Amino acid sequence: MSTPAPAEPPPVLRAEGIHKSFPSGPDTIEVLRGVDCVLLPGTSLSVRGPSGGGKTTLLNILAGLETPTAGTAYWGEDPLPVRGLSSLARRRARYIGMVFQAYYLVPELNALENTLLAARIAGGSVRDATARAKELLDLVGMGERLRSHPAQLSGGERQRVAVARALMNRPAAILADEPTGNLDERTGESIMEVLLNATREAGASLLLVTHNRGFAAMTDKAFRLEDGHLRPL
Ligand SMILES: Nc1ncnc2c1ncn2[C@@H]1O[C@H](COP(=O)(O)OP(=O)(O)OP(=O)(O)O)[C@@H](O)[C@H]1O
Ligand SMILES: [Mg+2]
Repeated sequence: MSTPAPAEPPPVLRAEGIHKSFPSGPDTIEVLRGVDCVLLPGTSLSVRGPSGGGKTTLLNILAGLETPTAGTAYWGEDPLPVRGLSSLARRRARYIGMVFQAYYLVPELNALENTLLAARIAGGSVRDATARAKELLDLVGMGERLRSHPAQLSGGERQRVAVARALMNRPAAILADEPTGNLDERTGESIMEVLLNATREAGASLLLVTHNRGFAAMTDKAFRLEDGHLRPL
């Protein structure tokens, strides 16, 4: 008698047959040409690939910020888009922590307020959130810069605030788009450590876009996105 294989836990994020085209002058460019991707709970996955290959586009689709031309992305069992714009925003704030390639910090808010913003969108106690935001900013080495505004911070410092903000709500999935792109090697390594540790401790999953081979090798699975296809390395 054979023992049945243990049931696989459902993926945190899933992409199925994703195509994405953009208009480019009179033509269209097909950036994604049938991408399948599964991010299992508690695992990490990296995506490398040439500039313009569609990595940010794929992250945006998985975050429900962009719609695919064909195919479906899922949060757990739920296909995107999740119904209702406000419910989509709130669910995204709870489910997904994003570190955008361009940071997207709010210029009028200081480092602490930017980090707290994620908690505000998700709803919940402000007092608990403030303590956690300070702790996270400390963890990314920005504990002394709580009151600084983005314009007063270097690119790498903004990136670190963006990492703290992404971790704020203990999301099920962290989508990080070159979170070490503007950092020197040592700070980059410490940010990778923060991301991997936070992911592990929270039982979360990490999808990391990076050009750095060493960092890509630190994840459980490594892929390359090229010519519109995602292939294991
Ligand atoms: N909103 C848009 N409208 C038109 N074209 C777009 C749009 N967004 C992305 N593209 C095009 O899609 C392609 C993929 O872009 P994307 O930003 O996903 O690449 P990437 O792999 O993240 O590149 P990089 O490594 O430089 O960040 C590019 O050619 C880009 O110009
Ligand atoms: Mg990109």
